[in-house]
Amino acid sequence: MNKNIQLDKARKQKNGGLADKEDFAKVRLEINGRPIIRAIFPATSLLEFIREELGLTGTKKGCDLGDCGLCTVLLDGKPVLSCLMLALDAEDHQITTIEGLTNGGELHPIQEAMLKHGAVQCGYCSPAMVLNGVHLLDTHKNPDQMAIKEAISGTLCRCTGYTKIEKAFLAVTHQKGAKV
Ligand code: FES
Ligand code: FES
Repeated sequence: MNKNIQLDKARKQKNGGLADKEDFAKVRLEINGRPIIRAIFPATSLLEFIREELGLTGTKKGCDLGDCGLCTVLLDGKPVLSCLMLALDAEDHQITTIEGLTNGGELHPIQEAMLKHGAVQCGYCSPAMVLNGVHLLDTHKNPDQMAIKEAISGTLCRCTGYTKIEKAFLAVTHQKGAKV
């Protein structure tokens, strides 16, 4: 638990477990296309908001310090580390988590390619990897291997050695190229 949240909890405990009304702040944002308005402790990180308030546990918590990249979500289409950002700072922005990618139960092409190429082992890094891939494909017409390496460089994977993830991304790039 980060220090800010501990402070909020301590403040709550001083009132015998009850929070004062003024301890809360209202946040309004959009998650996976759904408008959300909630009253939260101001120090709630975006990661805690997504996982604990909304129950969207596809976004993973690793270091909680900005080092592992596992908590990556897309903010207005760009990858951000949700453990380093306050939920209040996401006010009026659009957030996409891994749960927002499936279209009527259909997997995103990046997800399909990762499964096909054995790029998912324990799966803990996979939501962040997939979202990095979505951003890469949205911003590069034809990303090469260097661009792929750069896109996933901030996200730790302890299982795959990264090669299979890179192969999966390259396969989607080639498919995309074939369709153009
Ligand atoms: S949990 Fe956010 S970077 Fe590690
Ligand atoms: S698949 Fe296990 S950490 Fe990447």
